[in-house]
Amino acid sequence: MKYPKEYLDEIKTRLKVSTVVSKYVNLKKRGKEFVGLSPFKNEKTPSFTVNDEKGFYHCFSTSEHGNIFDFIMKTQNLKFGEAVKTLANLAGIRPYTFSKQDEERENNWQKYTLIYSTYINYYHEELLKNSDSKLAKDYLKERNLTAEIVKKFNIGYVKKNPNFYETLIKKFDDKILKECGLFYYDEKKNIYVERFRDRIIFPINSITGQPIAIGGRTIQKNSYLAKYINSPETQFFKKGNNLYNLDQARKFSNLSNEIFLVEGYMDVIGLNKSGIENCVANLGTALTDRQISILNQFFDEIVICFDSDESGYKAAVRAAENSIKELQTEKQISFLFLPDGEDPDSYVSKNGKNSFLNYFKENKITIHDFLFNHFKKQTTNSPSSLATLEKKLRGITNTIKDEFIKKYILDFFLGKIYELTPNLSKGKKFAIKHVASLSSTKKIINETKSITKVELQEYSLLYLIINNLIFFKENINLIDNIKLFTKENKIIFDAILSKLKTEQRPSIKDLEIDTQLIDKIIKFASIKHIFKNDQNRIIELVEEFVHGFKIHSLEARIEELESKFSKDMSETTFNEIKNLKEQKKKENIN
Ligand code: GTP
Ligand code: MN
Repeated sequence: MKYPKEYLDEIKTRLKVSTVVSKYVNLKKRGKEFVGLSPFKNEKTPSFTVNDEKGFYHCFSTSEHGNIFDFIMKTQNLKFGEAVKTLANLAGIRPYTFSKQDEERENNWQKYTLIYSTYINYYHEELLKNSDSKLAKDYLKERNLTAEIVKKFNIGYVKKNPNFYETLIKKFDDKILKECGLFYYDEKKNIYVERFRDRIIFPINSITGQPIAIGGRTIQKNSYLAKYINSPETQFFKKGNNLYNLDQARKFSNLSNEIFLVEGYMDVIGLNKSGIENCVANLGTALTDRQISILNQFFDEIVICFDSDESGYKAAVRAAENSIKELQTEKQISFLFLPDGEDPDSYVSKNGKNSFLNYFKENKITIHDFLFNHFKKQTTNSPSSLATLEKKLRGITNTIKDEFIKKYILDFFLGKIYELTPNLSKGKKFAIKHVASLSSTKKIINETKSITKVELQEYSLLYLIINNLIFFKENINLIDNIKLFTKENKIIFDAILSKLKTEQRPSIKDLEIDTQLIDKIIKFASIKHIFKNDQNRIIELVEEFVHGFKIHSLEARIEELESKFSKDMSETTFNEIKNLKEQKKKENIN
């Protein structure tokens, strides 16, 4: 049985070829492509290339060529179905189960996209050729849309009293025509009425380029009608999962780091007209985390550039609160606020591409700066207002999924708050305390990339112990059996343990810790901001670290054995690995 194209496309959407290949081959970026040593041949000079834009790899020495599925099948020696399973797993989507319903859905998807493309192509041709479309053509001319742009975006015009239903019903059944969102059913008259009457229509495509919905703009000025309407949500069109122009814009991910996320269809088109093609629009609804994570797959920096009016600003705040959750290391989200009264379309039409790009370089603001400035504006210097500010920012930070980012964003926010409260920052909460400024935060982020998770946990544990020496002296059993992994941490940890056992009243001075190491502990202990000085919490944290260390040691042992197994293929090694994996699973459940 065949996998539905929609399902395979979803996997391709979530996984760049370079993402998949780099799990097995060391890739280096070279221009638009990546290169590496061919996995199909033993070679010294790289002849293997990966092109994310085109979605394939190519090996010049063996002529092997294909997409992510081919790659996995060939290099991992898997059948197609197994490759699909592997990649679905990597992409974080459910495994596919074949059922009658799936077959039906696949059938419906084929029909649905065919209805949309038939509809869109028909009205596109009508706009270009039919003399009835003069008003629409005049409107587009007035807005400076050339025939070339109209063709590029497959823009159409639906006339005032259209009747395309009659044509479609000859080819499609009435159930799917009713469900596709292009028609209303008028019960009184028992007729199907077109939704986009007398509107310019903009096709909205799935990420792989099939039309799945439409946005329509009225061409009447001062009309009482809504300026824009969209297709309703259907089985195949969910607004929060799609973006206008995503299918085209994603092809520019090799050429530019950033993607401009704007409010309207006309903004995307205006930017395109001026030669800025890496842009998408979010279909007139609030930005969702799903949309952010899709863009993150392709681009390193998302630049949110809404209209410079009150509703654009409000939408930007909402977008910031929503999208900060998705922040990842090496990815950025920033905001661009245009001069008063402009939207991206009007700005770029007046000032051109270079001016827009310069404006962007000089005025973009990071998501955390924007959020801080926004909430700071609403704050007076009164204690309760400052408390509200801190609470709000902590609340926002807590939604961030990535633990590292969470840590540094909190550090940034607290640093900014301490600037507002100089007296507070003089007081000492812990024996050692330190608030990094933004520039050092950046540096730490870079340094942290090379530090492993287990090392960070070690720093946090040391931080906890150093700040609670007496408590740990009295409860030495909590930490007596812990073995650290990093050499220098292990030495200091063992030294502290022996001091705790021998000294009556151990103090930080007795420990004689190298100051560089102290600096590191302060820098990298991620618990320093969340840590509350309460004994139950301390015990909980220690248990968490012990658990983390246990998992780490299991993983290290498994890795070691797997490399042994790849050489000796021995049954004992295999069983040992299986055993350890089971232990790890149990440990993860506990
Ligand atoms: P033009 O006036 O054609 O230049 O459009 P614009 O791109 O400046 O649009 P605007 O800033 O007014 O709106 C931005 C986006 O919000 C549009 O692309 C639509 O997606 C959405 N939108 C605007 N007006 C309406 C409306 O009346 N109803 C709905 N549902 N959405 C709208
Ligand atoms: Mn606008």
